[in-house]
This record gives sequence, structure tokens and C-alpha cells, in this order.
Amino acid sequence: MKALIPAAGLATRCLPASKAVPKELFPVFDRPAIQYVVEEIVDAGLDGAVFVTAAGKESVLDHFDFSPRLAMKKSMAPALQKQVDYTSSLIDVISVRQKEAKGLGHAVFSGLAAVGDEPFAVMLPDMIFLSKGKAVFSKMFDAFQQSGASVIALMEVPEEEVSKYGIVEGSIDDSGLFSISSLIEKPLPGATPSRYAIMGRYIFTPTLHSILRHDYRDGSGEMELTDAMTELIKREKLYGLIMDKDDFVFDTGDLKGYALASAFMAAQHHPDFMTQLQKLLEDIRR
Ligand code: G1P
Repeated sequence: MKALIPAAGLATRCLPASKAVPKELFPVFDRPAIQYVVEEIVDAGLDGAVFVTAAGKESVLDHFDFSPRLAMKKSMAPALQKQVDYTSSLIDVISVRQKEAKGLGHAVFSGLAAVGDEPFAVMLPDMIFLSKGKAVFSKMFDAFQQSGASVIALMEVPEEEVSKYGIVEGSIDDSGLFSISSLIEKPLPGATPSRYAIMGRYIFTPTLHSILRHDYRDGSGEMELTDAMTELIKREKLYGLIMDKDDFVFDTGDLKGYALASAFMAAQHHPDFMTQLQKLLEDIRR
């Protein structure tokens, strides 16, 4: 199974920081945001990743490539050299271009030829996952193998956050999985009876190929991935894997979530980071 990484967006929520630098390359402490999802794909043992990019995003691909300029550098600290080599050897880069900004459904559609006519994963690089136990994607993969149906990651979010996400309704069925009965993209708070949000990890059967191909056949229109899933549940089952208290996710899609992820990773690496930050804040307020 291959993973598709949509990385073509303009990141308007991160302007002006994302004006010339792709949001996917913003550093989250010691590595660019997109490296976390690539490491997740490698850890899951998937057969590679397809990057869906757009004009101006070439540097996202360069990050995972061999760097001739760094190779020419005479001396580099061994630890740094190791990191550079590790990054270039992480994954073979396959990329396709989304030629028009027509929504997430269209970005996935743009990558279909590269994943082949088989089940595939979609991993949104905005979301950085951490788990104390088994990784969320591994649990999704088990559910996919057990059911043979498409599976997406879900997390219960506070009411005031439902409008940031695709929201689903459904119930636990006999198999013990959450069977999805309806989906709505970014509803208004109070307008949905459920608070189960789609968290950017999806495994799809090839049925989604035919839905997206049908919708973009004439090259017109814009479709959210959530709309394609609404069509999918008319044809076959779609399950949700509800994340539990041992699973954590950072939504770096907006600047606050991004800053939180960076601070968390910094605190993981430097135990005194939070104390120093706290002291700085107190000193400046005095
Ligand atoms: C996308 C999806 C949405 C999902 C969210 C987080 O929205 O359209 O359904 O809940 O990612 O995974 P975006 O954040 O790209 O606007």
C-alpha cells in the first residue's frame, strides 16, 4: 500500500509566514513538519509515498533528496552528517502536481495514477501523531485488514472546534468498529449532533478512485474529500478508528497549533525548556 501526501495547498492560514516558504517545511523543532509524516509512513512499513505538490513547492521534494551542496562541504560534525544522510535515505520521492487549486478531493484525484488501482492511504502532513502505545495508523491498518473496508482516524473534539474539521456520525457495529453513517465538512458549532472529527489519516479501497474519477471527469468543479466519502458510504462501509487517551495529535494547520507542536518537541529534547520559557514570560511581564 502506498501513501499519498497532499502538499499542494497555499496555506493561507499561515500567511505571511507561508508566502515564500512552503508550510510543510516550517521547522517543528529540529526537522521540517513534513518529515514527521514521512517517518510515520516509513515506520508503518508502507510501500512508499506519493507527494502531491504544486508550483513553488519543489523544495519540499529537495528535502528528501541527496544534497550536492552539502556533499561538497569538506567537514561536518559526524552527528549532523548522520542526520543529513538519514533524511536523504528516508524515502524514494514520487511526486505529481496538482495543476489547479480545487480542494483536497482534487489533490487526491491528482495522485491516483501514481498509487495504482489498489487500496491506498492519505496522510495529511498538517497532523503530527504521537502515541504512547500502538501507532494510530497501525491500528487503522489492522481495522482495514479485519474489515476489508475503508478506515479513517477520528478524535472527539470540543464543540467550539467542530468547524475546523470534517465531522462524522455513526455508531459502533458488531465488528467493534465505528460505522460511519454521515459526514459533514466543517459544520457550524451546534449544527451537528456529533463531535467526532476526521484527523487527517485515511485508508481507502479502490472504490474511492472511481468516485473521484467520475467527479473530475470533465475537469470542472471542486470537491472536498469529505464529499467523496459521502458518496463512498452509499456504496460500501466506511469505518472510523476512534483515537484514545494514549494517542496525541498536533494540528499544525494553523500558527497556534504549529507553535504548540514546536514547543512540545523542544520540551521533549530540552527538559529545562519550559522553565526557561516560563521565566522569560514572567520577566517580560514584570
Ligand atoms: C482537511 C479535511 C477535514 C479534516 C482536516 C483535518 O481540512 O477537509 O475533513 O478534518 O483536514 O484532518 P483542512 O484542514 O485541510 O482544511
